[in-house]
Amino acid sequence: MLGIEYPIIQGGMQWVGRAELVSAVSNAGGLGVLTALTQPTPESLATEIARCRTMTSKPFGVNLTLLPSINPPPYEKYLDVILESGIKILETAGNNPKEFIAKAKKAGVTIVHKCVAVRHALSAERNGVDIVSIDGFECAGHPGEDDIGGLILIPAAVDKLKIPVVASGGIGDGRGMAAALTLGAEGINMGTRFCATQEAPIHPNIKQALVDANERDTRLMFRKLHNTARVLRNAISEEVVKIENRPEGATFDDIRHLVMGGRGRAALEAGDRDGGVISAGQIVGLIHDIPTCQELIERMVKDCRELLAGALRKVT
Ligand SMILES: Cc1cc2nc3c(=O)[nH]c(=O)nc-3n(C[C@H](O)[C@H](O)[C@H](O)COP(=O)(O)O)c2cc1C
Repeated sequence: MLGIEYPIIQGGMQWVGRAELVSAVSNAGGLGVLTALTQPTPESLATEIARCRTMTSKPFGVNLTLLPSINPPPYEKYLDVILESGIKILETAGNNPKEFIAKAKKAGVTIVHKCVAVRHALSAERNGVDIVSIDGFECAGHPGEDDIGGLILIPAAVDKLKIPVVASGGIGDGRGMAAALTLGAEGINMGTRFCATQEAPIHPNIKQALVDANERDTRLMFRKLHNTARVLRNAISEEVVKIENRPEGATFDDIRHLVMGGRGRAALEAGDRDGGVISAGQIVGLIHDIPTCQELIERMVKDCRELLAGALRKVT
């Protein structure tokens, strides 16, 4: 359906999903996905898509994350640029507005909708998306409020949906990939693992912070605001969680200065581990090196094949 060699997708990542990483993933046989809203304007997204095309001749997609926001970006204009640029794979996340899906479908686009609950996946299926990417509680970014790990969520989604399911969250090696395929997923989606690659356009210090972290080094912020975000444990996320847990409670205004997007971006670019919020999932505990995307993907596929064959031997 996606025209790729291996069933491995690099999910949209704010400030990270740029042409360098996306083309490297696609060139290695996976599906790279540009992050539309990382580009400041719809026009600059068109330029980034063109730039990515000079770096790969393989298919790549674009992520459009639709979240409620105080100053909403011009989503429709971003969508128009994606369609006018001839992009054939759209990853949506957050809301899945019917009009957007209908418009993209009419342009012949394959839509991968990323969500965190079976009921949301069913609604996306009803709205006409082609593939659902389901994010378990382990994931970086927004795991939702149900706290269901991938081991349950993936087969629960596979059981209920007619369209293909991609497993996301907590996957970073051949073991996770083999497990996800065994649970019924058609493929996998990764975020955090792709941040710790040579081509990820972030500062080496941040990649090293992901390698140094263990599986307990993420924090859940915004729990009380019902907009949970899993991020790397650092001075900022510890402070946010502390403020949120004050006995007198907290509002978004109390933490706004700590969680501003620009601050997270600056931390990623300057390599300041404690400079801002850095999205990361529990898979950090299993990340031990910073390979190229090609090395990573080839290793994962090889390990996955061996593990699936080995698992069979355990039951025969
Ligand atoms: C740095 C970073 C930024 C992310 N930004 C977005 C985003 O803007 N939109 C989105 O849909 N998902 C975003 N995600 C989530 C990923 O696309 C993916 O669903 C998630 O990372 C999967 O979990 P994993 O990190 O355990 O692989 C982000 C993840 C990371 C690590």
